Amino acid sequence: CSAPLVDAFNRRITYLRLSVTDRCDLRCSYCMPEQMQFLPRKEVLSLEELHKLALAFIDRGISKIRLTGGEPLVRRDMIQLVQALGRKLGDGLEELTLTTNGTQLAQHADDLAAAGIRRINVSLDTMDNSLFQTLSRRDRLGQVLQGIAAAKEAGLKVKLNTVALKNLNEAEIPFLVEWAHAQGHDMTLIEVMPLGEVEGERVDHYLPLTVVQDALEARWTLVPSEYRSGGPARYFDVVETGGRLGLITPLTNNFCAGCNRIRVTATGQLYACLGGAEQVDLRAALRSDSPDANLAAALDEAMRIKPERHHFRIERGQEPAQPRHMSLTGG
Ligand code: GTP
Ligand code: 5AD
Ligand code: SF4
Repeated sequence: CSAPLVDAFNRRITYLRLSVTDRCDLRCSYCMPEQMQFLPRKEVLSLEELHKLALAFIDRGISKIRLTGGEPLVRRDMIQLVQALGRKLGDGLEELTLTTNGTQLAQHADDLAAAGIRRINVSLDTMDNSLFQTLSRRDRLGQVLQGIAAAKEAGLKVKLNTVALKNLNEAEIPFLVEWAHAQGHDMTLIEVMPLGEVEGERVDHYLPLTVVQDALEARWTLVPSEYRSGGPARYFDVVETGGRLGLITPLTNNFCAGCNRIRVTATGQLYACLGGAEQVDLRAALRSDSPDANLAAALDEAMRIKPERHHFRIERGQEPAQPRHMSLTGG
């Protein structure tokens, strides 16, 4: 293994979030506008380029790769990429996983498990059909629930991701947690982040997880857990449901000091921080005359420019922290 990735704040970077497409078959209102402009396909890295990039990261000590989107499973050669990267498990790579909206999971769960994936995160903001249609602007809740069931059936450990939204899914959150835990799934609640322009004001649906935690603690006993998934969540064991609950609190409890992550868009732009503008063009390095040397230099540059923290704020009239939508970087 070549020199490990360590940033200017002495944080060791071991977790790569690799977006494989900016496209998605849903249009979650907190994530993107209905009329989202997707990138021309020629801008997006090929399967071979994604594979080469991932190997370069593994060589620099990346031990966890999460494939994201957009929706990763809308990319046609996604399973081939998972199979190719699956061969690195136990050989530098410790965990290969993905975050999906679940709509196409039923078709792919067996192949994902066979390729070495053990655990996946599936977004589920509501189990109410009409609210699902309001939130995602599509009628696909049934497919998502089938996908979650198929993943469990295939032996994948499922974690459900729920973005907490005031006046939308707020009242349903205890039910979602209860349902997830009854199914044997972990659940993580997420504070909405101000990335990209969306319809309406983010502040109208921003729900601090401090408020949700208080409401849940009035109902159940939440015991802080030692468990770490390697991501930004802090976990609690819920005594009454017997399940695990994660909280991702970029707004109310900053976790940047422990950051171990970088993210790469489907076009090969490395963003050193989810909330920052600092970026390095890995596609240019990949497509240059000396890709290995240029990639190595680009990763060194990424470590120099990674900011200490994001400065997300959600207030009335506030501009997005960054103009790019979450679907470009997959979080
Ligand atoms: P685990 O491996 O299960 O810990 O997954 P994860 O939480 O790292 O990944 P997932 O794709 O499920 O992301 C859940 C949420 O965490 C998404 O909303 C991401 O945008 C958010 N997230 C992930 N990394 C960061 C980060 O570095 N900063 C911030 N602010 N949010 C992040
Ligand atoms: N803020 C917080 N989470 C978001 N996601 C998408 N957009 C946002 C946002 N603006 C979530 C999705 C998915 C995960 C990858 O990120 O719901 O669960
Ligand atoms: Fe698609 Fe995920 Fe964005 Fe929803 S949050 S529109 S599922 S990329």
